[in-house]
Amino acid sequence: MNLKEKIDRTKMPRHIAIIMDGNGRWAQKKGNQRIFGHKNGVKAVQEVVEGAGEVGVEYLTLYAFSTENWGRPKLEIDALMTLLVSTINSETETLLKNNVRLLTIGNTSGLPNNVQQNLKEIIEKTSKNTGLTLILALNYSARWEILNAVKTIVTDSKKSTFNIDDIDSEYFEKHLNTSGIPDPDLLIRTSGEYRISNFLVWQIAYTELYFTQVLWPDFRKNDLFDAIIDFQNRERRFGKTSDQLKDR
Ligand code: FPP
Repeated sequence: MNLKEKIDRTKMPRHIAIIMDGNGRWAQKKGNQRIFGHKNGVKAVQEVVEGAGEVGVEYLTLYAFSTENWGRPKLEIDALMTLLVSTINSETETLLKNNVRLLTIGNTSGLPNNVQQNLKEIIEKTSKNTGLTLILALNYSARWEILNAVKTIVTDSKKSTFNIDDIDSEYFEKHLNTSGIPDPDLLIRTSGEYRISNFLVWQIAYTELYFTQVLWPDFRKNDLFDAIIDFQNRERRFGKTSDQLKDR
């Protein structure tokens, strides 16, 4: 039985989020520039998008560029932006063929104009697709997202109809970039780092975390399937006891 067949389709994570890490180290190990790792990371992106679609994952969020990544050398930032645009252009047909809908989270208005324009076009073109929703986190950080939500809520609160007791989790979530998207069931981080790095901090309150030593450019469908199988062997208790879950 191959790994894909071992996946229990009745216990699928609806939403998988991935911190794609290790591109730079992968390239340096091969005696190459860091950007060589990013270029090879695109193959891993293609694999997870395809793999997630094949097994019926509904949402896949990829951390492609954090607000902190602006601190990298200009050459690397420029190369990442160029890679993003070229990948969007070369993958549009495949996304359309595979019924993938593309969304973004993050402060995309802070991205270069050509990146914004390319994103706008592909988001429009794929907007009617009903298969996998692929969400790219771009110029994203969780603290930025949460602060942004607070600012909007405070602005709203100046309206006379506002009642402070209306602010519950549901209300708050409506002001996050991920409004309408279920919280991730599974978060994967590659490259053997055990950190969240400002990614989806509100949304991962009950998410299962999976860390692998595999460097992102080496990540393949089978690595995704391994993570899903691991997830399916866990007991998610959401604060309850194991016995309470059995009684359901
Ligand atoms: C982390 O590795 C990776 C990134 C900051 C960028 C991820 C980008 C891609 C995979 C390519 C394009 C993506 C899309 C969605 C088209 P790192 O550079 O931090 O690696 P290191 O920790 O080894 O230095």
